[in-house]
Amino acid sequence: MNTRHLLTGHVLRFSGNPYTGPWQDAVRIDENSALLIEDGHIVSVGEAAHAAAGPDAVLHDYTGQLISPGFIDAHAHYPQTAMIASWGKRLIDWLNTYTFPEEMRLDDADYARTIAARYLDLVLDHGTTSVASFCTIHPHSVDALFQAGAARGMAIVAGKTCMDRYAPDGLRDTVQGAYDDSKVLLNRWHRTGRAVYAITPRFSPTSSPDQMHALGALWAEYPDALMQTHLSEQVDEIAWVRDLYPEARDYLDTYEATGLLGARGLYGHSIHLEPREIDRLREVGAGVVHCPTSNTFIGSGLFDLMGLARGGQSVGLATDTGGGSSFSMLRTMAAAYEVAQLRGEAVHAAQLLWLATAGSAWVLHRQDEIGALAPGMAADICVLDLSSTPAIAQRSHEAEQIWDAVFPTIMMGDDRAVSAVWVNGKLRRG
Ligand code: GUN
Ligand code: ZN
Repeated sequence: MNTRHLLTGHVLRFSGNPYTGPWQDAVRIDENSALLIEDGHIVSVGEAAHAAAGPDAVLHDYTGQLISPGFIDAHAHYPQTAMIASWGKRLIDWLNTYTFPEEMRLDDADYARTIAARYLDLVLDHGTTSVASFCTIHPHSVDALFQAGAARGMAIVAGKTCMDRYAPDGLRDTVQGAYDDSKVLLNRWHRTGRAVYAITPRFSPTSSPDQMHALGALWAEYPDALMQTHLSEQVDEIAWVRDLYPEARDYLDTYEATGLLGARGLYGHSIHLEPREIDRLREVGAGVVHCPTSNTFIGSGLFDLMGLARGGQSVGLATDTGGGSSFSMLRTMAAAYEVAQLRGEAVHAAQLLWLATAGSAWVLHRQDEIGALAPGMAADICVLDLSSTPAIAQRSHEAEQIWDAVFPTIMMGDDRAVSAVWVNGKLRRG
């Protein structure tokens, strides 16, 4: 018989969307509860877990800690791991000065493997069990990440970044090359183990309309694949897109007109949206991804989390490593809270935790597998110590109810708060 693991502690549970209705109806914490894991999956939760555990189950006592779904980072650039926190530039200058030179280093397949392994080890340290990442234009950069993910049992979404213009020599592909390479990689990796392929045009400025059409055609051939890109991140970028695509009604239309708008599309940032773009994204059921540490770090703007999510837009949360300034989804939730405060909205801890787990799972269309603690879901779990530093402990110890004990860890916690990480039923940290 497979080993059964019984985890005891406070268990975070979801039963709905905490933005489209009262959060209390959608998110709760079962205090002093339990979770039973077997063969990579969650078997049962609560009293049923105790009852089903049997005498042979291995006990993992997380009393007083929060057992959460593993965090899901829905938009990242693993190749930017080694240049995170680079000083002083805004988007286009930042890409040219820091990002593209570093991405060129992944021309070396050994370096790509080193960075992929380093990146996934860092995110696991921070309680993140799944990522959706851009790679570089080099096909081997995709193999490197999916292989490193498989070695760690992680559910990874990734794709070859396609760019055929406005990037330096050595970092451009072609219309046909982007199509052919993406197709080979998609066939190699999509739904191999826990891998899911995302067709990945970087953004409208660095793909010619012909390349966008070619990738749109590829998506039509493989409608089960995801598609990830960037949308309306900075005002200067939007003006550039307007110049490059004079026929387009707006930025989203550059994707829409080329077959790159769909329910399985992920649109990173989506800050400065026109009313038509907001309506279209929601109508087609596309996902937008909020990257708050990036948006403040590169100076992009204040994403309208509450407005969009309340309106029924599917939203995920992400670090946008290395435009974002942290690998930590705790830090990212804190930044989401702060950005919303600047827009006059207070996001509840329950809504933040849901966004970093179930919200991201929904935009990745993997909500039946990851992002919630329920029977049948993968055992991808992050256990949070709610008293990980003296500063946090003096707040959580005074808390009269559980959410007041959780919020200080969201705002002030880092990798020291992550006391255990389970991936696919295996203990990877702690
Ligand atoms: N837009 C196009 N490429 C990038 C990138 O690598 N990072 C961010 N933040 N925005 C982008
Ligand atoms: Zn990005």
